[in-house]
Amino acid sequence: MLFANSALRTASRRIVSASTRCSSRSLASASKTQTSSNEEFVRKTLPYLAAAGLAIGASTQFMEKENTECGMFGGKVEDAIKKTEDKFASYWPRNIMILFGPPGAGKGTHGPKIEEMLDIPQLSTGDMLRAAVAAQTEVGKKAQAVMKAGGLVSDDIVVGIIRDRITEEDCKFGFILDGFPRTLVQAQALDKMLAEEGACVTKVIELQVPDEVLEERICGRWIHKKSGRSFHVKFAPPKSMKTNADGTPIAESMKDDETGEALMQRPDDTSSALVKRLKGYHDETVPILSHYSPKGVVKEVNANQGMDGVWDEVLKSLSRK
Ligand code: AP5
Repeated sequence: MLFANSALRTASRRIVSASTRCSSRSLASASKTQTSSNEEFVRKTLPYLAAAGLAIGASTQFMEKENTECGMFGGKVEDAIKKTEDKFASYWPRNIMILFGPPGAGKGTHGPKIEEMLDIPQLSTGDMLRAAVAAQTEVGKKAQAVMKAGGLVSDDIVVGIIRDRITEEDCKFGFILDGFPRTLVQAQALDKMLAEEGACVTKVIELQVPDEVLEERICGRWIHKKSGRSFHVKFAPPKSMKTNADGTPIAESMKDDETGEALMQRPDDTSSALVKRLKGYHDETVPILSHYSPKGVVKEVNANQGMDGVWDEVLKSLSRK
């Protein structure tokens, strides 16, 4: 049953794309059942595809685009897809994964790639809290100092943030948690809120990296604030980077590859704050693994290797095969 939950929208995009072009084998076979009207075709084809585990939940935007381009089904496909999508959003379990690892492990590096592949959002409590700090909301004001020093924000605050966020529309088929839960109390709160809808954490991807390599990763990191894209002076330099004679980057040359906007360094990306962040990780966050391990959902990934190698392992850990 899980097929519908994770690859839902991505898979369905391919199928809908295929169906509108009438090029896939499944569709060709299904289209034999096409009779008098497009409506009948839609009625017969969609359940067929869903049952075959191939399509459900294409985005409305995508459907509109395809309908306009192909002009085959008018609004009927959209309605039928919406109906099927609603069904899965109501009755099928969500795909809920946790990206786990110490600061600098690669959660922010690989999270967006998983997000793009599975079409479920990556929810970073760190990003949400930084946005709250930037906007100087009540939560932001409370979190600012503790974050800068590398400490943990109170469980109440982050649990509240996540509780609200996961009810949003884009989380209906699942989500990727990055930086949450960070304490056993948070893990228990997460389990409880999921249990209320009969759901549970389906995967914990543990990025394993020894502490010794993290300082270089953290202190060399530059980020694009708006998108969260992460760069590194040595491991993932932006195309624009220029260096001084001693090899250090010239700050003004650090620009985002996609937008050309300025990159920044996080206030907590310092050697001294890292010591505290790592202590918090080992003391408070690592015990969460013992909480989820007996459920058989924890997948270990060697994140102490090149980024491509890490991604290969992440992909394997995501797959059911
Ligand atoms: P948060 O933003 O979650 O920070 P973090 O967990 O410390 O994680 P990072 O973002 O530093 O690490 P990452 O794994 O994403 O690393 P990245 O992929 O960028 O939290 C910040 C703060 O918010 C916390 O300290 C706390 O105060 C508060 N907070 C957040 N959530 C909370 C919660 N639930 N409860 C309480 N407080 C909370 O990689 C790092 C660098 O390494 C990059 O430059 C990258 O290019 C490079 N890199 C990545 N992979 C590789 C590789 N394989 N080889 C070489 N370089 C690599």
